[in-house]
Amino acid sequence: MDKLIVEGGHPLHGTVRISGAKNAALPLMAATLLAPGCHTLHNVPDLRDTRTMLSLLEQLGVRWEREGNTLRLHTESLTGAEAPYELVKTMRASVLVLGPLLSRNGFARVSLPGGCAIGARPIDFHLSGFEKLGVRTHLERGYVEATVEGALRGGIIHFDVPSVTGTENVLMASVLAEGKTVLKNAAREPEIGNLIDMLSAMGAQIEGKGTGRLVVHGARRLCAAEASIIPDRIEGGTYMLAVAAAGGDVQISGCEPCHLSALMEKLSLCGVDMETGAGSVRVACPAGDGKGLFRPRSVDITTSPYPGFPTDLQAQFMALMARGDGTSIIHETIFENRFMHVAELKRMGADIAIEGSRAVVRGVARERLCGAPVMATDLRASASLVIAGLSACGRTEISRIYHLERGYENMAAKLRALGAVIEQVRE
Ligand code: EPU
Repeated sequence: MDKLIVEGGHPLHGTVRISGAKNAALPLMAATLLAPGCHTLHNVPDLRDTRTMLSLLEQLGVRWEREGNTLRLHTESLTGAEAPYELVKTMRASVLVLGPLLSRNGFARVSLPGGCAIGARPIDFHLSGFEKLGVRTHLERGYVEATVEGALRGGIIHFDVPSVTGTENVLMASVLAEGKTVLKNAAREPEIGNLIDMLSAMGAQIEGKGTGRLVVHGARRLCAAEASIIPDRIEGGTYMLAVAAAGGDVQISGCEPCHLSALMEKLSLCGVDMETGAGSVRVACPAGDGKGLFRPRSVDITTSPYPGFPTDLQAQFMALMARGDGTSIIHETIFENRFMHVAELKRMGADIAIEGSRAVVRGVARERLCGAPVMATDLRASASLVIAGLSACGRTEISRIYHLERGYENMAAKLRALGAVIEQVRE
């Protein structure tokens, strides 16, 4: 297992290029199962999770080749319909093959994901959505077995809360269903827009992109398509927060600033300067007071579905607020257990108290945030520890960084190119 060693106190300067979005690449890769042929996906990040999805697709009979960030997936003949426990337990997004397999084969068997580090994360919305389209589901020895009864038929599906992968899964099951399907209270994340664009290029008819009401007119058949993965807004936001925490002046290129407006609004309240261009954001921190780094003003956040403040940036924002000038209340409303980073940040000297779904972060001066050995517990918690390490005094050793590799392409190398002192070593 590798660990990261970060030496804090070095401001970041230069340009960093953002990769394609993990959470868009995964559903688009699954969507290739819908139609036989050769699909081409551009800007696919090379991550542990995208590799896991490739292993899963391979088990289903898909052949693929990668050339740089372009993936070609050949889905002419499928040979399986099962997502095994071994893959689902390492990546919950494996459940995204359920919808496409039901459309293509009329049957799918997918291991039911258990809880994970950030919460229980059930898939009941996915399953009840499928049932509305004429699918019978039952649980057999830890696996969901889903079978289309007769043919998929359009229906009306109302999500109790907007679910990102739930919306994607049901959308993929509905594009070939007979008649009209309406998804109400659907999630509006940009990654869903990316999926809708790909499905449309395959021949699907979907109205309402970017809204909470999606209307699908079932197509008779779909064809292979070419699509490009949108920039990773969470990776982009993570680098913006890294610059705010470490200080400096960085051009974040290859990103979509309009996908980051909730974060940018908060960062500007913190006192960070930002300038947006076409596909880029320049983030600059005012010089410190001569005694140290820029100290952000403390600001409150509440996570909520897009376009609200993303839960996937909550941990990283908290790392910034650990050194805030004042008190920040961080309210997590999406996942019930997404404060695993708090104990690790406290080991570095952060002053944080958890009160139910809120964390009260009393910012400390830089001298009081000190490097320490810490442990990554999930993907975004790991990124928050890197950010804390960049702004702390001394050396932070982050173990279990395989979590980071699930969702960040070459993070240590990208930060090093900006002047961070960070290295990856074998434990
Ligand atoms: N929920 C249910 N039942 C369901 C589905 C969801 O109760 O059937 C609840 C969840 O427990 C949660 C809320 O609904 O409280 C929203 O969860 P959602 O379904 O939107 O989450 P997800 O689709 O499982 C995706 C991302 C996550 C991201 C969330 C929220 C992918 C592959 N994953 O998960 O990304 O945190 O949306 O934005 O798109 C990450 O990248 O680090 C990550 C965890």
